[in-house]
Amino acid sequence: MKNTTVSALALTAGLFGGSAAMAEITVGMMLPTSGTYAALGQEIDAGFMLALEEAGQQDAVRIVREDTEARPQVGVQKARKLVMQDEADVLVGLVSSGVLGAIRDFVDGSQVPLIVANAGNDEATGDQCSRYITRVSFSNAQVSRPMGEYLPTAGITKVYTLAPDYAAGRQMIDAFTAEFAEHGGEVVGGEYTPFAQTEDFGPYLTNARASGAEALFVFYAGGEAISFVNQYGSFGISDSLPLYGTGFLNSQLYLDAEGDSAIGTVGSLHYVPSLDTPENEAFVAAYQERHNKLPSEYAVQGYDAGRVLIEAMATGADDRESLAEAIPQVSYTGPRGPLEIDPATHNVIQNVYIYEIVKEDDRLTQNILATIENVQDEPHGCTLGG
Ligand code: PHB
Repeated sequence: MKNTTVSALALTAGLFGGSAAMAEITVGMMLPTSGTYAALGQEIDAGFMLALEEAGQQDAVRIVREDTEARPQVGVQKARKLVMQDEADVLVGLVSSGVLGAIRDFVDGSQVPLIVANAGNDEATGDQCSRYITRVSFSNAQVSRPMGEYLPTAGITKVYTLAPDYAAGRQMIDAFTAEFAEHGGEVVGGEYTPFAQTEDFGPYLTNARASGAEALFVFYAGGEAISFVNQYGSFGISDSLPLYGTGFLNSQLYLDAEGDSAIGTVGSLHYVPSLDTPENEAFVAAYQERHNKLPSEYAVQGYDAGRVLIEAMATGADDRESLAEAIPQVSYTGPRGPLEIDPATHNVIQNVYIYEIVKEDDRLTQNILATIENVQDEPHGCTLGG
C-alpha cells in the first residue's frame, strides 16, 4: 500500500461496503494510442475512467499509461517497464491478440495480475491461461462461434471469409468455420489480408464475388473495419453477397465513418448500445453526458475492467497477490448483461447478440436479431478449474 490520498479514500470507501479505506494501487495501462487500433484504446480508457468516476474512486488508483502501438515487441518492453520500473500492482488493457500473446509469459512469471480489456486470443484463457490473467472482454472464438450457428438459420450455407493476417483474424475465422460446418455450412474460400497494411480491398472483394458464396463472413476492426465497409459499399454487392462478421466490423465506434455502407450488415458481439436494459440505459446516459456520443463495446470493456478492479479492491485486495485472487471472483449485471468470470479459464461468460445495422430517424443503430445467452468457452487445456 502506498500512503498518498488515503484520507480521501477513507471518505468514499463506505460506498463499496468495505469498512476499511481502500489502498491506492498503481495501474499500468497498456493500450495503443497510435496505429490502426488507436481509437479503440481511447474508448477503453474512457470507459475505465467512467467506472472509477462513477464509484468515486479516481484517487484510489495511480495510472501509468504506455502506448503498445498494437505491436508485440513494443508491448513486451512496455509491460517490463510498467512492472519493474513503475511497480504496477495490476496491468489493464491490451487491444491486440498479438500483444497479449507476446506478454503472457512475462505476466505469468512476474505474478502481476492482468485485466484484459480487449485482446481476444483464445489461448490466453485456454492452454496458455494463467491465474494472473482475467479477461473481461471476450475470446475470439466466443464472439465468432455464434455466427456459425446463426447463418444457417438465416438460410445461408456457403460463405467466403476475409480477415487480417494475425492471431485474432485466424482465430475468428477458425472458430466460425468449425461452428458453421457443424451446422451444415461450408466455407467455399477465403483470404487473409496483410494486417494494418491493406488499403485496397478491391481484389479480395472481386475474388469473393467470383467464389459462388452466398455471403461474406469477415473480421476487421479499427481503421481496417472502416476502410473495408466503405469499399464493400462502393462495390455495390450487398444484395448478391451480404456482409456478416464479428461485430467489431460495424461497431458503434465506426458507424459514423462507415455511414450508409453499414446498413444491412450483420454482426455478432457481446455489447451494442441499443440494448434495452436499465443497466445499459444508465451507462449510455453517463457515457453520453461525458463524451457526447454513444459507447461502443470497447467503452464497455474499459468500464468493466475498471469496475471489476474497484470491486476487487473493495474486498480489501491491495497488492498483486490479493488482487489476482479477488479479480476473477467479481460478478454483476452491467451494461452488456450478466457478467461473470469462468473459474475454469478466467474468461468472461456473457451473452452474445446478433444484430443488423438499420437506419432509424436518420440515425444508424443496431437492431437485435437474436441473443445467445451465457456463452462460455471450453477450457481447451486450461487447468485453472483443477
Ligand atoms: C484482437 O487482436 O484480439 C482484436 C483487436 C480488435 C478487435 C477485436 C480483437 O476489435
